[in-house]
Amino acid sequence: MPDHLLLRAAFRQPVERTPVWMMRQAGRYLPEYRAVRAKADFLTMCKTPELAAEVSLQPLDLIGVDAVIFFSDILTMLEPMGLELVFEKGGGPRFPEPINGPEDIERLHVVDPADGLGFVGDALALCRKQIDGRVPLLGFSGAPFTLATYAIEGCTGKGFNKVKHWYYREPKTLATLLEKLARQVTSYLNYQIASGAQAVQLFDTWAGTLSREDYRTIAAPFTRQVIDRLNRDGVPVIIYINGGDHLVDEMAQLGADVLSLDWRTDIGAVKQRHGQTHALQGNLDPCALYGTEERIRLEVQRILDAAGPTGHIFNLGHGIHPDVPPENARAMVRAVQELSRRS
Ligand code: CP3
Repeated sequence: MPDHLLLRAAFRQPVERTPVWMMRQAGRYLPEYRAVRAKADFLTMCKTPELAAEVSLQPLDLIGVDAVIFFSDILTMLEPMGLELVFEKGGGPRFPEPINGPEDIERLHVVDPADGLGFVGDALALCRKQIDGRVPLLGFSGAPFTLATYAIEGCTGKGFNKVKHWYYREPKTLATLLEKLARQVTSYLNYQIASGAQAVQLFDTWAGTLSREDYRTIAAPFTRQVIDRLNRDGVPVIIYINGGDHLVDEMAQLGADVLSLDWRTDIGAVKQRHGQTHALQGNLDPCALYGTEERIRLEVQRILDAAGPTGHIFNLGHGIHPDVPPENARAMVRAVQELSRRS
């Protein structure tokens, strides 16, 4: 039986209290992260295992979370496949030469992660060593649909016309791309597990832009293909969709262990509907961390009451905002750890 709180919660086993971590917990709200970031650009940090491990562990030591997620980005995986990735100052990630048609899919290669993404394996091994058994280490990947939107759109924030254009005009071409991505995601996550990841989260950030029917047709089959092929003995799989309230029943069909919900979803209702088969993760509004300590504790209590004492991993409903005072993140973590304690 896994010993860590988070692993037990993910498998709906008894816990003394609810475990807690935060998406984007290794990030700009921490002055200590910004100090490392001042010396190296984002991709250099991802590709330098010592730096990646250093910032991965910062929230463990500074905030007191119950899990470490290794520092990287969902998009780094696409680079060795053949898509150049740049992070522009203040502008977020961008692919200067996005996928425009079938010939571009041809030039994407499914690679052995140990070759193209060896820095990830090294960062994970280093994290495991430095964590020294205190908490579990989480791996992650983008889900095929979300990776495809970036590969086709080239960047965030321009709507999803291009990817939907493909869906309506050339669904077979889109499926070819998604299938290739699914194979790469599968080998990437299995590589992370072999390198020390003790649970894995699939981020399908943009799947919330799809209707239920379209999610079922375009995105779900490829996510399910990944999950089916993971070496998951004792390694729980978490699936996250931003804006996925209408997709919760579909998420429960993917074969994952944990459904990660954003803050707009009623976690108590999902507990009633899927709590017998799935653990839940979430789902505090990241903006609640702008509140007073008293207000943060109230919001934490509300979610703990709705989610119940087992099968719950406390988290934010999306990544922590860069302008949140670290003291407020600490107050949230403390509140979960105190208010959920039993006996
Ligand atoms: O959670 C963690 O602490 C682990 C590391 C992690 C990052 N990004 C670090 C990061 C993880 C798991 C991600 C996932 C990710 N990246 C997602 C899925 C989750 C989500 O947020 O919905 C997506 C869509 C991306 C793509 C991405 N990366 C965007 C759109 C941006 C720019 C927006 C922003 O927040 O600046 C990034 C950059 C990024 N990824 C940063 C960090 C800490 C900020 C980079 C910096 O330091 O300048």
